Amino acid sequence: MKSLLEQFRTSEQRDFLCTYKRLPVLIERGEGCYLYTDSGNKILDMFAGLAVNVLGYNHPGINKAIEEQIKKYIHISNFFLQDSQIKLAEKILEMTGFKKVFFSNSGTEAIEGAIKIVRKFFYGTNKKNLVSFSGSFHGRTMGALSLTARKKYRDQFAPLLPNVKQFTFNSIDELNNNVNDGTAAIFIECIQGEGGINVANQEFIDMINDLKQKYGFIVVADEIQSGVGRTGKLHSFEHFGLEADIIIIAKGIGGGLPLGAIVGNEKVAGVFAYGDHGSTFGGNPVAASCGIVIFNELEKELMNRVNEISRNLFDKLNQLQQKYRSKIKEIRGRGLMIGIEFNSGCEQTVQELISEGVLVNCTGGNVIRLLPPYIITKNEISYFAEKLDKVLMKL
Ligand SMILES: Cc1ncc(COP(=O)(O)O)c(C=O)c1O
Repeated sequence: MKSLLEQFRTSEQRDFLCTYKRLPVLIERGEGCYLYTDSGNKILDMFAGLAVNVLGYNHPGINKAIEEQIKKYIHISNFFLQDSQIKLAEKILEMTGFKKVFFSNSGTEAIEGAIKIVRKFFYGTNKKNLVSFSGSFHGRTMGALSLTARKKYRDQFAPLLPNVKQFTFNSIDELNNNVNDGTAAIFIECIQGEGGINVANQEFIDMINDLKQKYGFIVVADEIQSGVGRTGKLHSFEHFGLEADIIIIAKGIGGGLPLGAIVGNEKVAGVFAYGDHGSTFGGNPVAASCGIVIFNELEKELMNRVNEISRNLFDKLNQLQQKYRSKIKEIRGRGLMIGIEFNSGCEQTVQELISEGVLVNCTGGNVIRLLPPYIITKNEISYFAEKLDKVLMKL
């Protein structure tokens, strides 16, 4: 008799467009920072549903917000003003100091909306070029994909958007030599997620700010993975003083439900008019009510917690790097967005960790990416470090 996992695998092969590489476990439920498999195993989740579950699983505040909202309505469409959208927008604008919000369902959709804002802002001018950087990931719909750098994701889907230029991340010279009057916008993840937790250099960001003064382009901070408190500040661009005009948020904002946001400053606040953009599901009221819980928690003390736990996690990882110098090349990142770069591939380490009851992710082939829930405790961090030590010793 085939196991349920094997049965599901067969169904997937038969019925799905198989675009996902699935993990070899079946999850029954989640609680706090743990996932529980169908066979009763407990897995410490250092990945949080790809940076989404910032308050972990089965969080009482999130559950309560969902229960209260679904009793009122689950969906009524954007033909109506909706209480939870209004409150969430107020909270985001209060905490960012920005001027306007548009709610989407996902990160890639919010990037698409930002591209439209840029296009309309410079409509009829010679500012047509969109800039992004090597190692970047901005999504997989055609506009966002045109900005995403990884060849693996884009090459077979050409033709993509014209007028998109990709420069080397952190190359000041390349930026200086290529950005000009024709540049409409720069899209940047100040801490790249998918690319391998690559942190921008301060001089690079300073150069973007200088060039912005000179040429007047729009700066779009893609905070889809690095935002909503993950790096120890509300958004990662704040670490570097990037003069962003648009912030793109998603993942953690909806407490596990699909939600994204375009957040614009004064400069772009008046670009969209009635009918210029829209979405049937964008800003779903249940997701928005979870967003209010997340931002309230961040405002209280969740971000302090991210910073405290981050110091603890970095200490443990630095100790492991000292111990395994031949294996671990670098530890980098901010807050609870951390990359462990290995000298060779890390897939096997990831698989071994899963067998030891710890879930991490491998990106770029040789970087273990840690994106744990913010509620993770020091004990859980110690548990993770012990397991990583054990696996590194074994391999
Ligand atoms: C930095 C960044 N931008 C864009 C996206 C795309 O977001 P979504 O998957 O919500 O469409 C992601 C998703 O991983 C991301 O990490």
